[in-house]
Amino acid sequence: MSPQLSELFEFLRFPSISTDRSHREDMHRCVGFLQKKLSSMGLDAKVHQTAGHPILVAKNPPRPDRPTVMIYGHYDVQPVDPLHEWKTPPFEPTLVGDKIYARGATDNKGQHFAHILGVEETLKEYGELPVNVIFLLEGEEEIGSVNLGSFLTQHRDYLRCDVCAVSDTGMIAPGIPTFTYGLRGIACLEFTVRGPALDLHSGVYGGAIRNPCSAVAQMVASLHDSEGRILISGFYDSVQPLERWEREMWASLPDGDAATLAETGVPALWGEDGYTALEQRWGRPTAEVNGIGGGYQGEGSKTVIAREAFAKLSFRLVPDQQPDEILRLAADHLRAICPTGCTVEVTLGHAGPAYVMDPHSSHGQAAQRALSRAFDGKEPRLIREGGSIPIIQSVKDILGVDSLLLGLALPDCQIHAPNENFTVTNFEAGIRLNRALLEELAK
Ligand code: BES
Ligand code: ZN
Repeated sequence: MSPQLSELFEFLRFPSISTDRSHREDMHRCVGFLQKKLSSMGLDAKVHQTAGHPILVAKNPPRPDRPTVMIYGHYDVQPVDPLHEWKTPPFEPTLVGDKIYARGATDNKGQHFAHILGVEETLKEYGELPVNVIFLLEGEEEIGSVNLGSFLTQHRDYLRCDVCAVSDTGMIAPGIPTFTYGLRGIACLEFTVRGPALDLHSGVYGGAIRNPCSAVAQMVASLHDSEGRILISGFYDSVQPLERWEREMWASLPDGDAATLAETGVPALWGEDGYTALEQRWGRPTAEVNGIGGGYQGEGSKTVIAREAFAKLSFRLVPDQQPDEILRLAADHLRAICPTGCTVEVTLGHAGPAYVMDPHSSHGQAAQRALSRAFDGKEPRLIREGGSIPIIQSVKDILGVDSLLLGLALPDCQIHAPNENFTVTNFEAGIRLNRALLEELAK
């Protein structure tokens, strides 16, 4: 195994699950690993404590005559459950053929570690970089980057840059360089429905009272009509329609409907009329149930009416939907439709707006040249993505710069799911991509 790959494996062994309190120490050990790596390359690497998980900033000695490129990544990962569906342990990286299996392999350790190694290679070869680099590596992306916005505001001068580069998005297919010029935003909430003061015998009381599990099911069902349009009043008011050029461009990509069927394994597609699967995934807003629960979950049956039930929702947003406004509309909707005989409590979660940039800007073009150089001279495809990186719009608002989304995630990389994987091919392409990107941005 190459030294670069074994270093990535070392990084992947930290169980840096940001949402889980019991991994707090692992977060500190993981950021310590990064600090040591970046310092050993001659960068000035500082760990900044926050109210949550630490943020690492590392810089080469800046030169005023050179542009400054921020490289953003996140060292936190998603939880691993369901653990029994992993074929290899999530924090024991395993190489099978070209694939590295581990939680965080693609999202996002493998992708930003490739940038770190690209910088290291350039420094070894030339003794300096063609641009000023600021690595900004956070540990709370998977929980909404709750402390990064205020960090950007507090350290605006220290983080001043001309552009930001992020490899945390996808490629449309292996070997096809892909430039992402837009992301959906996100807004999360959960609600709990309460009925009786205690769990009840469903035979003794059933029929005379409202069952909170049924109420949650009814409320969740009220979010969409049968065609998939969202029924929350005002939800679509500020939605920007897709531009004609992007619909045409996406239509020229390999068949997105077929790919969506194949990647997901569903028996049929479903959703709003008049849009292709790619348009729905990249350019239309959604309301999704991420979790739902209540009542007996064990083996066999238990005749009970649970005293409460809950659902966790997230909304994906498009330009110009305002996350706070969407949360307000959704909470109002849930309170209005909560059936009689029970009460609802809505708890708002994290939120961030959608992002779009001009892919034809000079930075956008430089990024596309770099992508092309990293992938055998092939022309990059231009896409938007359905996932969210909420800090990207904050980088725009607070630091005033665009983010270049240079994704290396493949359609079958299983991010957020069991058996997440990253190919060695893309890891190596990521290293070349970083080298080409810094050269192109220096021009
Ligand atoms: N890397 C993803 C975002 C992503 C995935 C963008 C695929 C494009 C394609 C990121 O780590 C992520 O999962 N973000 C969360 C953000 C949320 C928890 C605030 C998401 O999109 O669910
Ligand atoms: Zn993620």
